[in-house]
Amino acid sequence: MSGFFISFEGIDGSGKSTQAKLLARALEDKGRDVILTREPGGSPGAEEIRRLVLEGDPDRWSAQTELLLFTAARRDHLERLIDPALQAGKIVITDRFADSTRIYQGTRSGDLRAMVDKLHELMIAREPDLTFLIDMDPDTGLARAKGRGGTEERFEDFGADLQRKMRAGFLDLARQAPDRFRVIDGSRDIDTVAADVLDAARAALPKAPTDA
Ligand code: ADP
Ligand code: TYD
Repeated sequence: MSGFFISFEGIDGSGKSTQAKLLARALEDKGRDVILTREPGGSPGAEEIRRLVLEGDPDRWSAQTELLLFTAARRDHLERLIDPALQAGKIVITDRFADSTRIYQGTRSGDLRAMVDKLHELMIAREPDLTFLIDMDPDTGLARAKGRGGTEERFEDFGADLQRKMRAGFLDLARQAPDRFRVIDGSRDIDTVAADVLDAARAALPKAPTDA
């Protein structure tokens, strides 16, 4: 594949969506061909699955069924959007990817992590070229996420303790794959974080003819 695949990860409210958008815009301004997408979702089928998992009664699905739904959404997203875009040489930036499943589904029920890894290997078997972990204190992240409102609150409602475990889990993943991850301090103002992200992305991206 000739494109480049970037993911943003982190706890709810850490500023992933904000930073993914800013990076997409900055790279487009430099003449790059960028697709900005998100999970769960990113393709029509996966967006339908997003509604199934993120809206309605939080106890609607067992932990195992939920894992299957997130994986099904990712598979559709890969087949319909990510792979074709990478094959066309584009930069794909996704707000969340498989690390979110490792942490959210894997941390909630500790014994599910092995199943998460097996399913990933069977159905996805792909990692981004570069992953930004927007790291921050969960109390701040939670306050930011709550301030946003909307109907997709179920994971944010897990509370600060679980969010702390997830933060630690994301940092562990980053330590295990230092070549892929860049850990970014998300507690700073939006523009400072964005400047760090853009520097790291440009350092990792293959040079384009339009680069100065
Ligand atoms: P995520 O996608 O990680 O949940 P968002 O990008 O949606 O986070 O940000 C959550 C909220 O916090 C939004 O209202 C956004 O405007 C705000 N926000 C994002 N980054 C920052 C920052 N560095 N400082 C202050 N507020 C921020
Ligand atoms: P997202 O829209 O990124 O929420 P936020 O902007 O609050 O970070 O993701 C929606 C929720 O879905 C979020 O709480 C994390 C959860 N999620 C999982 O539990 N597993 C997954 O594999 C993914 C992609 C998301």
